Amino acid sequence: MEPYEHATQRSERRPWVVGVSGASGTPYAAAVVRGLLAAGEGVDLVVSRASRLTLLDETGISFRDAHWRDDLRQWLSLGADGKPQAFDVGDAELARVRYWAAGDLAAGPSSGSYPVKGMLIVPASTACVAGVALGLSKDLLQRAASVTLKERRPLVVAVRETPLSGQTLRQLVALDEAGAIVLPASPAFYAGATHIQDLVDFVAGRVLDAAGVPHRYYRRWKGELGGGRAPEGS
Ligand SMILES: Cc1cc2nc3c(=O)[nH]c(=O)nc-3n(C[C@H](O)[C@H](O)[C@H](O)COP(=O)(O)O)c2cc1C
Repeated sequence: MEPYEHATQRSERRPWVVGVSGASGTPYAAAVVRGLLAAGEGVDLVVSRASRLTLLDETGISFRDAHWRDDLRQWLSLGADGKPQAFDVGDAELARVRYWAAGDLAAGPSSGSYPVKGMLIVPASTACVAGVALGLSKDLLQRAASVTLKERRPLVVAVRETPLSGQTLRQLVALDEAGAIVLPASPAFYAGATHIQDLVDFVAGRVLDAAGVPHRYYRRWKGELGGGRAPEGS
């Protein structure tokens, strides 16, 4: 072995941790995971206990640790309206996903020495915002976020709540000051959305932008008013 090679193996898996907390917005999480896989990235997935309720509510899926691959496959196949879409997430893409139970505090992402590129919390509940801002580490999702901050890796927090209390606003400022990118799940209407999925993909695209991951999720602003309403390519 060459000196130092062990520390810089080119083939070393270095995924993004995707944390799904219990805020409304599970379609955002599905779109971000699809986008990461489409870009050839690896994903380490953490689904909080509370997010199983939002997932059940928004998709009808009872997410099970023991059957996560089947449940994730089904989730990723759904559009923002909760109906099956023609999303192409095959076995090769799913093989790039590693799943960690939210209660598993011995999981890889709970240590800074576990190689990851960073973490995307999509959607982020206000409880999650509070926990990460305070460094509570009450579950793997919050611990992985604290690790991401202490290791100075990118952390994107797609908070979903409205209105926001002063308490949450102060916690979001604390996260910003700690180096996180606070990215409200706040769709825009300049990109020519015609379906709910377009609005979801806009937010997912902004999350991927913040992570530096290429995607084709939305039409970028080109400096022309009304450009989003013009036919694509004109
Ligand atoms: C159907 C449903 C929707 C919810 N939507 C939100 C939401 O949009 N934003 C939020 O901050 N909390 C929301 N909650 C509350 C969180 O799930 C709750 O605060 C929970 O403790 C979050 O835990 P977690 O951060 O560990 O996932 C919702 C709960 C349910 C059951």
